[in-house]
Amino acid sequence: MRHVISPLDFSVEELDKLLDLAAGIEKNPAKYAHACDGKVLATLFYEPSTRTRLSFESAMIHLGGQVLGFSSAASSSAAKGESVSDTIRMISCYADICAMRHPKEGAPTVATAVSSIPVINAGDGGHQHPTQTLTDLMTIRSLKGRLDHLTIGLCGDLKFGRTVHSLINALVRYSGISFVLISPEELRIPDYIREDVLDAKGVSYQEVERLEDVIGGLDLLYMTRVQRERFFNEEDYVRLKDFYILDKKKMSLAGKDMLVLHPLPRVNEISVEVDSDPRAAYFKQVQYGVYVRMALILTLLEVEV
Ligand code: NCD
Repeated sequence: MRHVISPLDFSVEELDKLLDLAAGIEKNPAKYAHACDGKVLATLFYEPSTRTRLSFESAMIHLGGQVLGFSSAASSSAAKGESVSDTIRMISCYADICAMRHPKEGAPTVATAVSSIPVINAGDGGHQHPTQTLTDLMTIRSLKGRLDHLTIGLCGDLKFGRTVHSLINALVRYSGISFVLISPEELRIPDYIREDVLDAKGVSYQEVERLEDVIGGLDLLYMTRVQRERFFNEEDYVRLKDFYILDKKKMSLAGKDMLVLHPLPRVNEISVEVDSDPRAAYFKQVQYGVYVRMALILTLLEVEV
């Protein structure tokens, strides 16, 4: 039995296979409509979510399976003091696979120690978000045609943004990747990513503050929200929340093929006037998220179609 805690839980070859399966599902969803008949997915969400939870549920429903779960810690027995370990032992009796989001880094890993069903990390604190990364990889591969030889701008809250941490971990394994890390000084990527991942693997990157100066050289711009819930005080959040606003004017400095991605939810960091720009791919990204989660569920449940 396999769990997914980090994007590195898959080798590059396994990732390719998974993305091929997701692309096959996109082409012919009807073929997979009953692949998970009789199977149950549990979504255990101790933190707010719209896309990730509903996209997991949509994925399971489109495979013919059923879903159950909770969408906040307050509506589960966590509010009575139940541990993650006890909850997961129980859920193992109700479901065949589960996706867990938790505000504490490492909570899904704790769950894997006692779970008798596959556990998928659907976001743990400011740490990792592997299924968003699968979504991002599918989006990039589908719209750019490759995952290598790309100059990728990551912009916004690189300190607390778990989607950025997971994406960097996944992309450094492809050749010719170069990162432009665009953030205010206080929201730069954590040392454990800079030193243990980028420096350790000899990946090319630069850290800058001004988006305008670098946008013209990017193949892809990955915008992120300032992660309010991870700040220690509201004043810092208020000061930094509108540091970047991608608008038409900034888009006019970008190349004609530069893609704009965002894991969503968006707050102010992308102006709505950019939505109609053909380079804006963040709503397409949402659709890819369903196909890739369908592929992931099939892979972890070892269902062959
Ligand atoms: C992201 C997350 O939860 O980390 N959202 C998502 O899953 N699509 C990004 C965010 O909340 O800013």
